[in-house]
Amino acid sequence: MKSPGYACWLRFDRIADPALLARYRQWCGKIIVSSGAKSQSPLRTAVRELTEGIGSLLGMRPEVVNTAGTSEPQRERFIVLDVSGGPDSAHADGGEADAPASPDGYRIRTVYRDGGEYIRIAGESPGGALYAVFHFLRLLATGSGIEALDIAEAPACKLRMINHWDNMDGSVERGYAGRSIFFRNGEVLASSPRIRDYARLMASIGLNGIAINNVNVHRLESSLITERLLPDVATIAELFREYGIRLFLSVNYASPVELGELPTADPLDRRVAEWWKRRAADIYRHIPDFGGFVVKADSENRPGPFTYGRDHADGANMLADALAPYGGLVLWRCFVYNCRQDWRDRTTDRARAAYDHFKPLDGRFRDNVVLQIKNGPMDFQVREPVSPLFGAMERTNQIMEFQITQEYTGQQRHVCYLIPQWKEILDFDTLLKGEGSTVKAIAAGQVHPYTHCGITAVSNVGDDDNWTGHHLAQANLYGYGRLIWNPELAAAEIAEEWTRLTFGADPEVLSVVTGLLLESWPIYERYTSPLGVGWMVKPHVHYGPDVDGYEYSKWGTYHFADCRGIGVDRTQASGTGYTAQYESANAERYERLETCPDELLLFFHHVPYTYRLQSGKTVIQHIYDTHFEGVERLQYWIGRWAELEGKIDADRFGHVSERLQEQLESAKEWRDVINTYFYRKSGIADERGRVIY
Ligand code: GCU
Repeated sequence: MKSPGYACWLRFDRIADPALLARYRQWCGKIIVSSGAKSQSPLRTAVRELTEGIGSLLGMRPEVVNTAGTSEPQRERFIVLDVSGGPDSAHADGGEADAPASPDGYRIRTVYRDGGEYIRIAGESPGGALYAVFHFLRLLATGSGIEALDIAEAPACKLRMINHWDNMDGSVERGYAGRSIFFRNGEVLASSPRIRDYARLMASIGLNGIAINNVNVHRLESSLITERLLPDVATIAELFREYGIRLFLSVNYASPVELGELPTADPLDRRVAEWWKRRAADIYRHIPDFGGFVVKADSENRPGPFTYGRDHADGANMLADALAPYGGLVLWRCFVYNCRQDWRDRTTDRARAAYDHFKPLDGRFRDNVVLQIKNGPMDFQVREPVSPLFGAMERTNQIMEFQITQEYTGQQRHVCYLIPQWKEILDFDTLLKGEGSTVKAIAAGQVHPYTHCGITAVSNVGDDDNWTGHHLAQANLYGYGRLIWNPELAAAEIAEEWTRLTFGADPEVLSVVTGLLLESWPIYERYTSPLGVGWMVKPHVHYGPDVDGYEYSKWGTYHFADCRGIGVDRTQASGTGYTAQYESANAERYERLETCPDELLLFFHHVPYTYRLQSGKTVIQHIYDTHFEGVERLQYWIGRWAELEGKIDADRFGHVSERLQEQLESAKEWRDVINTYFYRKSGIADERGRVIY
């Protein structure tokens, strides 16, 4: 049984307002399509989606006709769906000159002419036409006017990807929404209907690439690139192709060894290079538009070129050469650090690792290698500075990696709308090429002449009926796609759009859902680890508080709290020197206590509990206050959510209510553990005398 959440934002419920319905129907009775549509797969999909979307929203079946039959002047209103510069020029509307430059771009215009009045939905490519159709349907579903459309859209980033961390046994690493939609018991679920539904969801928010398996590639998954499994993988690739999405695979760097075919995986060994060339040829025979490989090498005990005394450029280039003849990419991850650190060793700083490893290699990578860099230098904490490696390599393609799955942000049991976090990251000015060298500009290829760049993110999807476990976590998937398409969109705009599409336009529903979403990240940050120091989570599971859980471990994730103070000194003056990895003005801002932003203070500095923040509060009082406030604000929103009973379906209302209760219990535990820990460490009482144990 599918839950009411299955359709996500593509519900396309029948328009209830009769006047609006009548207006829309005037335009949507006939769709004229360029004659090539049958052979071009995303355009064929676009026709189907438009027809079905109109059917569902307007309760009518539009007539679909080919260009060939439309030379007669049209009296009634209609829709033209085509590809700019395609075989159909009958309905060119004069707006082509300033058409969007990206092949994924599109225009939607209402045209009034002697020959007829129509809405022209035109993609720069078949894929662009599909994005345009979803945009048009979104306009209808949100009740927008369509009588004077003049929309020109093009995505900011070229690569707009999702990474699944799915394993072939059906488990999902850091997955909180059920099991894999791609694999079960060692098999590829090639005929699962969910995969097409997922491709629809992805295309509707503008995504164009997917890696379907975990970056930790174990024995079973190493076979995904072999003749045994490629036919199944090709079936999945075909489903995504219909929606304009290219399929990628994560590969095991030591595949030739793992599969028992060679004694070595040394990238400079000719046999190894030849082996990968043969694999590439096999893959492209099955999947002609295969996107490429995602590689986690020499990272968290995964094999890599270091074993053979080679570096990352040697490793990545060897794979790149195998894929280059077919246009494939190597997405080489930079999550490389010493994961067997001795906590007593104060000279090693995990935050420095990616930059220290990769920056010296700038200029050595092939043009089809793209370095994949996590947004922060540590690991998807609730608050981290932006990775200084992003944009720091002018001659090496880069893609940023976000985490949609809520590993460290409440695991889809807590509401944590991450769009505001990603927006802050995208807006961060690295200053690398002067002002305006923002992360979003770098990802868009506007700062350095990257040939491939963009954004990717770890998926939050599983086989739960509602895809994401928590209904409200769907907003993170939706918002991710919308935001990386257009980083100028406001977090509030995206939240409202998603809420309208998902829960309808009732003003109270809109106000409560968007209000809760928009405050959820600040709330989560308040009751968890303070001031950018991160971690303090239960080891391995990463859910719930354990302040010292990682303090004496090998993972390089320490807060150094003692009876006097807390924080990691990453300054050049007295600490690990990490601040020097930023461009000088940013480096100085982080280096100096007075200018370091409060929210990152403990990431960069070790300070006494009595240190006064820019906010005027002492560190210890800030910790107490935020932890009480986090819980109080959550209680406020739980009260507001309760007002929605009867205004949304009982299933989703009940489900979210339950999860909010669970979140509240967890938030109280965080509050009390953190406050008690720091009260006992510091001996300093709460100014307001609240209960601390
Ligand atoms: C985190 C996460 C792991 C994951 C790793 C990665 O450490 O906890 O599960 O494998 O990131 O990004 O490779």
